[in-house]
Amino acid sequence: MTPEERRMRVEYVVKMARLGIMAEPEYDHEEWRVQADADERAIEEVLKKFAYTDGRRDGRGPVCRSDALCYKASVPITRTPFPRQFPLRSVMPRPHIEFIQHQDLPFSYAPMPGGGPETEVGRKVLSYDPDSGAASILLDLPAGWRLPGTSHYVADVELYVISGTLTLSGVTYSQHTYAFLPAGYPLVDGASERGAQLMFFTSGQADRVADEADPGTMDERRLIRYLNLFEGPWTGNFHPQFPVGAGRKWLRRDPVTTDESWILGTLALRNGRKPEKHPVVEEMFLLAGELIGPQGVMRPGAYFWRPPEAWHGPYGSKTGCLMLFRTVGGPLSTVYTEDEQEFEWDPEGYHPILPPELAHLQERA
Ligand SMILES: [Fe+2]
Repeated sequence: MTPEERRMRVEYVVKMARLGIMAEPEYDHEEWRVQADADERAIEEVLKKFAYTDGRRDGRGPVCRSDALCYKASVPITRTPFPRQFPLRSVMPRPHIEFIQHQDLPFSYAPMPGGGPETEVGRKVLSYDPDSGAASILLDLPAGWRLPGTSHYVADVELYVISGTLTLSGVTYSQHTYAFLPAGYPLVDGASERGAQLMFFTSGQADRVADEADPGTMDERRLIRYLNLFEGPWTGNFHPQFPVGAGRKWLRRDPVTTDESWILGTLALRNGRKPEKHPVVEEMFLLAGELIGPQGVMRPGAYFWRPPEAWHGPYGSKTGCLMLFRTVGGPLSTVYTEDEQEFEWDPEGYHPILPPELAHLQERA
């Protein structure tokens, strides 16, 4: 099957998915893999109806159930795997978003709950879990922002400074600095003289409560108070099949949830030719450079939330790029296709996978 035939077939599957044929994968928490058989019949029907079956159902066939699942666009996979030993972590029904440019969304400004006018912040919610309240948000702290007194969040929060400077609990964060603050971390006298923009990830509804948390609330093992990404080593290749020309700086390998965060830097003119998938959520915010892929050209400020087991790629970059990555549901592991694909260095248009509430962004192309 040629890449063009594959593309056309997958488009048909997408259309069927948009017509309402749904599939909801079930996860085996023990094995950390997708069983994806909850709505097997519906997907089989799509494949059969359009003669898509090719006898391969191992995730490597040109068009198979995995394609149907991962390309079903507006009916996204609605469950995220999580280890059984953490039953309090919610199932995370975030939609597949791949990709948006944050510049296409407006900031909405409001005082932080419980705060005065000096605590006003701008928020762009890039993705959100309506069940748990977990969110990935671009925050804009205006010049003169203040968060006086002592308080704490009841959820874990993770921040990466895109621009500007802020001080929190005696620590000054500037561009390309990072923190992971577990629930209960004491927030003391926040301030930003000239303003700051930061990516802000919460593990649940991030309600902020006055005063310090009860002793023992915060799990010290998970705290990363401050990292400066101008420092610290690049690590080498992290998978034998990962094309050379990229490096990773670790931000976090959570000792409890096993989730990971890192930045990835890639060289100009590098590309990979094998699509890949992971058993966990892969989330990315593009910090610098351009990244070319099947959905179009991502530019700084691009964002995706990709559910587990969604095939993606191949990708490349003319400029080289710097990406902020997170996983949810465990550490990253990667499965590649056996065969390489053609890589399109100059793709036309913008072909995102978007939930209905963001569908209007497709028009920007
Ligand atoms: Fe990936």
